[in-house]
Amino acid sequence: MMIRSHCFYWISVVIIIFSSLLVQTLASTSLHLCHQDQRDALLEFRDEFPIYDSKPIPWNKSSDCCSWKGVTCNVKSGQVISLDLSSTVLLGSLKTNSSLFKLQHLSQLDLMNCNLHGEIPSSLGNLSRLTLVNLFFNNLVGEIPASIGNLNQLRSLNLMANDLTGEIPSSLGNLSRLINLELSSNSLVGEIPTSIGNLNQLRNLSLGSNGLVGEIPSSLGNLSSLLHLRLFNNHLVGEVPASIGNLNELRVMSFENNSLSGSLPISLANLTKLSEFSLSSNNFTSTFPLDMSRFPNLEYFDVSQNSFSGSFPKSLFLIPSLQDVYLAGNQFTGTIEFSNTSSYAKLQTLILAHNKFDGPIPESVFKFLNLEELDISHNNLTGPIPRSISNLVNLLHLDLSNNKLDGEVPGCLWSLDTLTLSHNFFTSFENSSQEALIGELDLNSNSFHGPFPYMICKLEWLGFLDLSNNLFNGSIPPCIKNFSGSIKELILGNNNFSGTFPDIFSGVTKIVSLDISQNQLEGKFPKSFINCNDLELVNAESNKIKDMFPSWLGSLLLMS
Ligand SMILES: *[C@@H]1O[C@H](CO)[C@@H](O)[C@H](O)[C@H]1NC(C)=O
Ligand SMILES: *[C@@H]1O[C@H](CO)[C@@H](O)[C@H](O)[C@H]1NC(C)=O
Ligand SMILES: *[C@@H]1O[C@H](CO)[C@@H](O)[C@H](O)[C@H]1NC(C)=O
Ligand SMILES: *[C@@H]1O[C@H](CO)[C@@H](O)[C@H](O)[C@H]1NC(C)=O
Ligand SMILES: *[C@@H]1O[C@H](CO)[C@@H](O)[C@H](O)[C@H]1NC(C)=O
Ligand SMILES: *[C@@H]1O[C@H](CO)[C@@H](O)[C@H](O)[C@H]1NC(C)=O
Ligand SMILES: *[C@@H]1O[C@H](CO)[C@@H](O)[C@H](O)[C@H]1NC(C)=O
Ligand SMILES: *[C@@H]1O[C@H](CO)[C@@H](O)[C@H](O)[C@H]1NC(C)=O
Ligand SMILES: *[C@@H]1O[C@H](CO)[C@@H](O)[C@H](O)[C@H]1NC(C)=O
Ligand SMILES: *[C@@H]1O[C@H](CO)[C@@H](O)[C@H](O)[C@H]1NC(C)=O
Ligand SMILES: *[C@@H]1O[C@H](CO)[C@@H](O)[C@H](O)[C@H]1NC(C)=O
Ligand SMILES: *[C@@H]1O[C@H](CO)[C@@H](O)[C@H](O)[C@H]1NC(C)=O
Repeated sequence: MMIRSHCFYWISVVIIIFSSLLVQTLASTSLHLCHQDQRDALLEFRDEFPIYDSKPIPWNKSSDCCSWKGVTCNVKSGQVISLDLSSTVLLGSLKTNSSLFKLQHLSQLDLMNCNLHGEIPSSLGNLSRLTLVNLFFNNLVGEIPASIGNLNQLRSLNLMANDLTGEIPSSLGNLSRLINLELSSNSLVGEIPTSIGNLNQLRNLSLGSNGLVGEIPSSLGNLSSLLHLRLFNNHLVGEVPASIGNLNELRVMSFENNSLSGSLPISLANLTKLSEFSLSSNNFTSTFPLDMSRFPNLEYFDVSQNSFSGSFPKSLFLIPSLQDVYLAGNQFTGTIEFSNTSSYAKLQTLILAHNKFDGPIPESVFKFLNLEELDISHNNLTGPIPRSISNLVNLLHLDLSNNKLDGEVPGCLWSLDTLTLSHNFFTSFENSSQEALIGELDLNSNSFHGPFPYMICKLEWLGFLDLSNNLFNGSIPPCIKNFSGSIKELILGNNNFSGTFPDIFSGVTKIVSLDISQNQLEGKFPKSFINCNDLELVNAESNKIKDMFPSWLGSLLLMS
């Protein structure tokens, strides 16, 4: 009995091995897994598009359609389940009676970036097994067919970057399995349908850059799985509904460029996973109501161009992940102060321009060692620039213009990329032994005096220089030739420069604009000036010698 049973076992094993070999052999010799009708439908679909010599779809009629590029079949049934022709030039439209709609088993349709024109046919709603539709980046027009609301298996719908018009069909609220809904960058109008609030699996909702109006429906607060909510660049009005505070998985909230108003609901403090918080260019008022330290993952914070008031939201700077902060164009008042924190690690961009901050530049800002851009222009700051600004070894762009700052500018700033200090009361700029790298230097309208700062001659990449409206005197040194290859705008007007203008134009030059007006310059202008092919504006009025400019400058001389 034992032996017999053993034998039976081995026979069974052999049969199993043999039959699986047989199946494999059958599969590899069966070149036509593809169904004839599916193959025909695919070829008919291809023939609906004009053939451009560039890249016709490379489908070989004598091979199995399931092996065609972009075609995937169900391995058992042989039905075509996926068609991915993304980035193939089709240059035509999807017809209502297209053979595409014969592929009834299609689950994924990816026609991204195919140069499709025309409308989305409502028969798309017949492909009831679709889970993914990607028509991103085509030239589709017309309305989104309401029949898409029949595709109740759909998990991802991307119609972004087309020219679709009309309203968002409320039938989309039937797509209860939808995870990803991307309708950004179209010309959709009307209100956001309340029914969108039914899509409780949704993770991405992108409706940005359309013409949507009305209020944000409070039903969006039902989308408890939402990670990204993008409503930027529309015409949305009213307050942010308190229900948005229910979206406690939200990572990205971008509402910029609408007309939202009022104050922010306190419930937003529950969005503790936010990494991007972006409300710029709306009409929000009131003080900033939230304790920002409740957002421990925040990286990007932009509330610029609103009417927020009150004191500097210093709790924001307790967040260790913070990288970019934009508070510009609000009504914030008082001094700028940062809480004592050990986590100054990541901040790269800090834009505080166009507010009503006063007091000194706080030394504590120089603890943000990764800061690359600092803009506190158009405020009411007073006092000097603290020397500890030299701690900011990664700083590239500094704008302190339009304040009431004074004193000597620290020499370490010669190594920035752009430096804008105009409209203050600075008197001098310290020399530096460090490398001088500035590409744009604006010292306009200060109290600088003395000779032309020799450090400027070290700026070999200088493209923009404005020293106007100061008290500089002495001659303009010939060493400014060092940046004659890069300078585009040279503005030296309204100082006390004297002597002749040096001959700096003999090399190739990019200069577009030259202003030496209201100085004490004399003598002839250098002949090498004729090389300045790009020159558009010259202002030399109110200097000592009338015929300083040669006649060949002709019409170029807008003012002299
Ligand atoms: C098409 O497929 C057949 C059979 O696999 C092959 O013999 C033929 O060379 C292919 N033609 C082209 C143009 O690739
Ligand atoms: C689709 O309809 C048009 C006319 O509306 C017709 O010319 C075309 O042959 C039809 N195509 C198919 C695949 O039935
Ligand atoms: C496909 O959809 C259109 C419009 O939605 C409908 O008129 C037509 O009957 C449908 N065809 C099939 C075969 O289901
Ligand atoms: C689909 O949505 C429309 C509009 O919201 C609604 O009238 C209809 O009942 C929904 N259909 C199903 C099957 O849920
Ligand atoms: C959501 O959108 C982001 C970027 O917009 C994308 O990287 C991500 O893959 C999307 N998620 C899903 C589930 O489609
Ligand atoms: C969806 O949101 C609306 C408005 O906030 C609310 O009245 C409704 O009860 C919510 N529905 C569900 C299923 O949570
Ligand atoms: C908001 O509008 C400004 C100005 O038109 C534009 O520069 C910015 O890119 C817009 N923001 C978004 C997210 O599109
Ligand atoms: C803010 O509101 C005023 C009127 O209340 C309106 O004129 C202005 O366009 C709005 N600004 C924005 C950015 O929506
Ligand atoms: C935040 O959420 C908790 C529970 O998730 C809730 O009890 C609380 O009321 C919410 N806070 C606000 C301000 O909405
Ligand atoms: C930060 O700490 C220093 C000393 O450690 C203290 O002098 C200063 O007042 C503190 N500043 C703030 C804003 O708490
Ligand atoms: C600066 O302060 C003066 C009064 O000290 C005030 O008149 C002016 O409006 C303030 N400027 C800004 C930009 O806040
Ligand atoms: C910078 O150095 C030059 C040349 O050594 C000197 O003439 C000038 O006074 C110095 N300027 C300042 C602000 O120290």
